[in-house]
Amino acid sequence: GKSFVVTGTASGIGHVVATKLLDAGALVHSLDRNTPTAAVTSHIEVDLANPRSIDAAVEQLDGEFDGLINVAGIPGTAPGDLVLAVNALAVRHLTEAMFERLRSGGSIVVVSSIAGSNWPLRLEAVRDLLATDTFDEGAAWFKDHPQEGNAYNFSKEVATVYAMSMSLALVEMGLRINAVLPGPVETPILPDFEESMGKDNLDGVRGLLGRHAQPDDIADAIIFLVTDSARWINGHGLVVDGGLSGGILTGVV
Ligand code: NAI
Repeated sequence: GKSFVVTGTASGIGHVVATKLLDAGALVHSLDRNTPTAAVTSHIEVDLANPRSIDAAVEQLDGEFDGLINVAGIPGTAPGDLVLAVNALAVRHLTEAMFERLRSGGSIVVVSSIAGSNWPLRLEAVRDLLATDTFDEGAAWFKDHPQEGNAYNFSKEVATVYAMSMSLALVEMGLRINAVLPGPVETPILPDFEESMGKDNLDGVRGLLGRHAQPDDIADAIIFLVTDSARWINGHGLVVDGGLSGGILTGVV
């Protein structure tokens, strides 16, 4: 079977991604700060907020893989520097540390959010951040350029643009990279989103769509992107929100 490295496996969307991949006969190597409940092939404890911890985890990973699925993330109720570190800088750091460990034909997925798709994005700031060479330089840039509003939105703008902008660089390596942008999903961090975005707003969204997403709805889209069916999809931001973005575009939401 194919072999994947998955972050965020201990909860929510990552747990379901790991479970579905295992059920399909794949090997799943888990990276999380907590222990997953799914029967993963291997688990390495990592603190994604710390690039040294990421490097140590990659060193412990044995062999080559068919994909890297960056699911782990934290909500905007956490301190801004931590949010940027886990949701954006760690994604870049881990992804780049894994390039040489991925087989040709392999695929990378970054779980972002529609919170990072409010076009036009703060593209100039995002590009400046991504122009930094290292995790630590990125963190220092953010300290000098604190972005207005919720750090979560900015971290997800960076994650989306990072995935979309790496497509050509990955062609040379025989790899693909894509982002998945969920709307609200019923996982343990939904109450944090209710806190940072307003419970009334999220209840309104649920009313319009009939329900929030289940982790399953997002996991299927993530897994599609690492299959050969998605072989010509590279540098794409796949919105998986039940139609919510259309409502935002038309001013209904
Ligand atoms: P969750 O809270 O259920 O799972 C997050 C996972 O990331 C946990 O296993 C946690 O241990 C791990 N993690 C967090 N910080 C870590 C760190 N410093 N080091 C190592 N592991 C760490 O959340 P959920 O909902 O499954 O979220 C997964 C992804 O989906 C996140 O990137 C989130 O931003 C994104 N997302 C979630 C939405 C939602 O409504 N639940 C909506 C849009 C995007």
